[in-house]
Amino acid sequence: MDNQQLALIVPAAGAGERIGGETPKPYLKISGKTILELTLGRFKNVSGLGEVIVSTSAAYVEPTRDILNQVFPEIRTVVVEGGKERQDSIRNALKMISGKTGLIAVHDAVRPFVDPKDIEKCIESASRWGGAVLAVPAKDTIKIAGSSQEILKTPDRNSMWHAQTPQVFWAALLREAYDHAEQYKLMGSDDSSLVEQIGGKVVLVEGSSKNFKITFPLDLQIAGWLQKEGHL
Ligand code: C5P
Repeated sequence: MDNQQLALIVPAAGAGERIGGETPKPYLKISGKTILELTLGRFKNVSGLGEVIVSTSAAYVEPTRDILNQVFPEIRTVVVEGGKERQDSIRNALKMISGKTGLIAVHDAVRPFVDPKDIEKCIESASRWGGAVLAVPAKDTIKIAGSSQEILKTPDRNSMWHAQTPQVFWAALLREAYDHAEQYKLMGSDDSSLVEQIGGKVVLVEGSSKNFKITFPLDLQIAGWLQKEGHL
């Protein structure tokens, strides 16, 4: 599965309720640049990248087109409207991918600190195994709790990981996983979980905690600090 064309899907249609404010997170700026632009920039020199699809809300279609033209002037780029859930946004993007694509990477618009070397590692593993997910070992102990927050179980921390993005898959496998999820009305909080549902093999690739998802106001402050310290 070497030297295949890669498509990148970036979901950017979230409302950003946890961070508050009018502007959705991918369109907030860090030192004059939108988070979306910074995130896309991390993929600029990734080998084999042939097309980029961004899902966003109706009001942000035009600005997203401008950002894509600026970051990727030489490859096919498409903007689609997102859906209610992240999974719906990705499903809409999947429909726009061309037949030439052998691998698909999905990366959250709000993870601008992903290391390009880790992206390459993830692509390499996915190419070999079918699916690969960038992840970091859990540093806190994870609890499984019931609806009134009573602890039901404490899984062994040594086998707990935090799944991040990019998550990269053989294109046919990811398409099949999304078709299956649609048919059986399954929802997952990441793409890998849908591939796992159809028995696809997905491996973890150890990345860095710097690849955090900008979610809360504190994350935005940390992002501003990291940017000033030259981490972008
Ligand atoms: O909400 P969550 O933190 O899972 O969002 C991860 C990414 O998915 C963000 O980049 C967000 O913009 C995107 N998203 C989306 N469509 C939704 C919800 C989230 O594209 N309906």
